[in-house]
Amino acid sequence: MGYRVAVVGATGNVGREILAILEELNFPVEKMHAIASRKSKGVEVSFGDRTIKCEDIEQFDFSSVDLVLMSAGGAVSREWSEKIGKAGPIVIDNSSAFRQDPDVPLIVPEVNPDDAKLARKKNIVANPNCSTAQLVVALKPLHDAAKIKRVVVSTYQSVSGAGKEGMDELWNQTKAIYGLGDATPKKFPKQIAFNVIPYIGSFRDDGYTDEEAKMWEETHKMLDPSIKLTVTCVRVPVFVGHSEAVTVEFDRPIAPDEAREILREAPGVQVIDKQEHDGYITPVDAAGEHAVYVSRIRKDPTVEHGLSFWVVSDNLRKGAALNAVQIAQLLDETGVITPSSGYRTLTV
Ligand SMILES: NC(=O)c1ccc[n+]([C@@H]2O[C@H](COP(=O)([O-])OP(=O)(O)OC[C@H]3O[C@@H](n4cnc5c(N)ncnc54)[C@H](OP(=O)(O)O)[C@@H]3O)[C@@H](O)[C@H]2O)c1
Repeated sequence: MGYRVAVVGATGNVGREILAILEELNFPVEKMHAIASRKSKGVEVSFGDRTIKCEDIEQFDFSSVDLVLMSAGGAVSREWSEKIGKAGPIVIDNSSAFRQDPDVPLIVPEVNPDDAKLARKKNIVANPNCSTAQLVVALKPLHDAAKIKRVVVSTYQSVSGAGKEGMDELWNQTKAIYGLGDATPKKFPKQIAFNVIPYIGSFRDDGYTDEEAKMWEETHKMLDPSIKLTVTCVRVPVFVGHSEAVTVEFDRPIAPDEAREILREAPGVQVIDKQEHDGYITPVDAAGEHAVYVSRIRKDPTVEHGLSFWVVSDNLRKGAALNAVQIAQLLDETGVITPSSGYRTLTV
């Protein structure tokens, strides 16, 4: 017995990873549907050793599936997720559309698995922003050990966080600059090849960007609203893998060795931390992997109880597809969904 599953956005960066990870983690699938826009109808995508043809979202009957993994952007989610939830299946949504909805749990299974019990309120579960997901996996075990008061984060976010078009722009611009071709920015606001851009999303009135605000809003919802966070999000010319320089202020002393021990025991985290060149992780090392890597743990001597460290993870995996599949596993393990359950009445 398995689930009838639809992956919406199946031709995209995240959708393709979802299909790969469902297979890698042996999620019980009875029937798989790949869904995308009308223009992709009939396009073949891989699912395990099979290829399946994409179906048009407009023509698909969502009441025929148990689970929908949605990664087609905020506008598509806003139009479809509630309608799909009302038709029966649970939607695990990768966009930001429902993350702050009080009736939609926002879940990283290592951090707040108990929120799975809220999944049937709207039949929607939200997956966090890629940078927040890897951050909270590292912060949660430290916060349990020594309460976190304040966090300062600078991100180094790869172009795959901006979808297929982001990856194409870095590739084409790099070739164009070498070959004296047209390197005009299209997807990003400035040249991304051989450059870094301290702007992701859109500007808010307070001078931050919405990408930066997502990081504190989502950390507050999942971990603890009392943690103060200040964030600078930066796009860098890396294809896959987001990095973060993190400085944390605790309410009691915590030595780097104690933090290493705590993080070594923590689910989803791998500590790679030696003062040698194999002793820290870069995005290239993390691409294709499941872990959130923590390196360069050291005391911050400028505050009373401070630590600084470096966090890296594959943004398409823990930052999106892997976390979505782990949410599906959590819903299965906790009985929120059962294989081929078909239509269910909402229990609010
Ligand atoms: N990339 C990341 O690191 C990351 C992390 C967390 C969350 N997310 C979120 O995940 C979502 C997808 O990101 P991505 O990187 O996979 O983007 P992407 O590579 O640009 O792929 C977008 C997907 O959405 C589909 N789509 C677009 N418009 C559609 C429509 N009107 N109806 C049905 N399908 C439509 C596209 O299908 P066509 O090929 O047919 O256009 C494609 O399959 C976004 O909400 C993003 O914010 C991404």
